[in-house]
Amino acid sequence: MTSRILLIISGGIAAYKSLELVRLLRKRGMTVRAVLTQSAQQFVTPLSLGALTENPVFTDLFNLKDEQEIGHIQLSRQADLVVVAPATANILAKMANGIADDLATTLLLATDKPVLAVPAMNVRMWHHRATQRNLERLHADGVHIMTPDDGAMACGEYGTGRLPEPDAIVAEIERLLALPKGFDPLADQPDFAEDAPQFSTSSETNAPLRGKHVLITAGPTHEPIDPVRYIANRSSGKQGFAIAAAAAQAGARVTLVAGPVHLPTPQGVTRIDVETAREMLVAVESALPADAAIMVAAVADWRTADAADQKLKKDGSGQPAPLALVENPDILATLGRHAQRPTLLIGFAAETQKIADHAQAKLARKGADWIVANDVSGDVMGGDANSVQIVTASGIDAWPVMPKSLVAEKLIEKVADALSPHAD
Ligand code: CTP
Repeated sequence: MTSRILLIISGGIAAYKSLELVRLLRKRGMTVRAVLTQSAQQFVTPLSLGALTENPVFTDLFNLKDEQEIGHIQLSRQADLVVVAPATANILAKMANGIADDLATTLLLATDKPVLAVPAMNVRMWHHRATQRNLERLHADGVHIMTPDDGAMACGEYGTGRLPEPDAIVAEIERLLALPKGFDPLADQPDFAEDAPQFSTSSETNAPLRGKHVLITAGPTHEPIDPVRYIANRSSGKQGFAIAAAAAQAGARVTLVAGPVHLPTPQGVTRIDVETAREMLVAVESALPADAAIMVAAVADWRTADAADQKLKKDGSGQPAPLALVENPDILATLGRHAQRPTLLIGFAAETQKIADHAQAKLARKGADWIVANDVSGDVMGGDANSVQIVTASGIDAWPVMPKSLVAEKLIEKVADALSPHAD
């Protein structure tokens, strides 16, 4: 059967990309009905959208003609998936608060179909606590949210907030349409009305971390020496990114604070890129509160006391430039004694010898609940396999060598068990 998409376009500079999105969806044989908010009409016209969708385009809640032909309730239900692309900070805020003050937001409140929001906005608006709070709410309400791309913005700034490419949006739409009906997140809503659907136990098992916020650090940090040199380590970020992907897969809202690595952002994960340990600490603290924090980053222990403004030059004496080092803040230990300490705090410990002993000592020193001790004497750093032992106050669980992706899945299962209301 032909898939029916209700596409809601809100007003941002990225709205022009919705034309390409419609073209690609039509090419795949899908039916598209489009709704434009008032500000979206500044960027795309109903005329061009009408031509591409070959359907009437809806713009106004009080357009009597449209209301006679098709009521807004009907419009919101005659779709297999509702897609909001681009979703501005403003429409996300309205959605999160149940505001229905125009046709687009009324449809979003009236629909009984899965909703995919594809945000696009300025990087600061994206990272603003209010937006992140709204995203957290929407996620808990069962709205699917794509992570914006990183890159240069129309406003001249650089960062997270660009609308993902239409190809990627189409792939996500196809993935959601292919999910079994039991996966419909709206079926998981609590019982607001007598006839509201009940919790589905199957999706509870598939999404054991739904409604939880998991904060993860990954990768190395770079500590500048001068504008062209820095102190670094061999961490690839693979294990932390795999854990972020597994947590998102388990239904959690995931914030991934990543040091400089060349890895794609896992689907459904909010990524904050940082360079130094001090930036990582600020990003981690501003992402609190979290239900679980998993600190996988290989944070540099030291930074230069004073990074030089200009490139350091050899002075001809044959003596190396003096480099004074100072200790970096310990992010894991800071969280361990934080007023907003996550319920479950997990550290990683890269060791080459006396692995369990060192991990036990770190557990106490940093105030963590678990330390995942990994043996880095082989080629773990940068490789795809890992050998870990989970060290807790009650003992040591040694896992066999396995791919990092499996370590991630097993660890997230263990986290979900520990956070479950039935845990001891
Ligand atoms: N960690 C951190 N901030 C730091 C150093 C480490 O948050 N400045 C975290 C790491 O993310 C990891 C854990 O602490 O979860 C242990 O890291 P590791 O480098 O093994 O421990 P160190 O404290 O550096 O101890 P040592 O170098 O003495 O082994």
